Amino acid sequence: RRLVILISGRGSNMQALAEACRDECWPAEIAAVIASRPDAGGLEWAAAQGIPTAALYHKDYASREAFDTALAAEIDRYAPDYVILAGFMRVLTPGFVNHYAGRLVNIHPSLLPAFPGLHTHAQALATGVRVHGCTVHFVTPVLDHGPIIAQGCVPVLAGDTPELLAERVLAVEHQAFPAAVRWLAEGRVTLTNDHRVAVQGDP
Ligand code: GRF
Repeated sequence: RRLVILISGRGSNMQALAEACRDECWPAEIAAVIASRPDAGGLEWAAAQGIPTAALYHKDYASREAFDTALAAEIDRYAPDYVILAGFMRVLTPGFVNHYAGRLVNIHPSLLPAFPGLHTHAQALATGVRVHGCTVHFVTPVLDHGPIIAQGCVPVLAGDTPELLAERVLAVEHQAFPAAVRWLAEGRVTLTNDHRVAVQGDP
C-alpha cells in the first residue's frame, strides 16, 4: 500500500509512521511527504530519509479551490492508496475530500467529538475533563467530524498546562496513528457507503 503524508509543521506523527513503515512486515510504504508550507520542519527529515518531498505554499494560490486542485494533482502523481493528514493545518474543500473518499485520514488531538478545531488542550483544561487524548478518523467535508477509526487516551493531571497535556497526548498519537494506518493498509478497516467504519471480523 502506498501512503502520501501531508504535513504543515514539525511532522513528528509523519516520523512515527515512517519508522513503522521501515519494519519489513509493515504493509505500507511512504510514497511522498507533501507540505502546505515550504518551511515545514518535517520536510527536511523526510528528505534525509530518501522519501520524495514537495511543498505547495497555500499563500501562492488565489483560492482554497485552486490550492486543493494543485495539491490533489501533486498527490495523484504518487498514486497513493491512502492520503494521511499528519498535522496538516488546512481546511480542505468538499471537492478534495470527496476525491479521496474512504482513503483520507486525519489525526486530531482530542477525543472527538469533544473539542474539534484548534487549541484542544486548552479547551480540555478549561472544561475540566479527566481524560483527554487523540482520534484517528476518516475525513469528511465537516471539519473534525469523520467516522472514528482509533482513539488513544491519557489522564488529565493536577497542575497540567496545555503544553504538558500536549506532550502526553502526542506520545499516544505516535502509537495510535501507526496502528490505525496499519489496519487500513491491511484492509481490516474500511469506510462503508453509509459513512460507517467497518472492521473486519465485527458482526
Ligand atoms: C498533532 O498534535 C496533531 O494531532 C495535530 O497537530 C499536531 C502535529 O504534530 N493535528 P506533528 O507535526 O505531527 O509533530
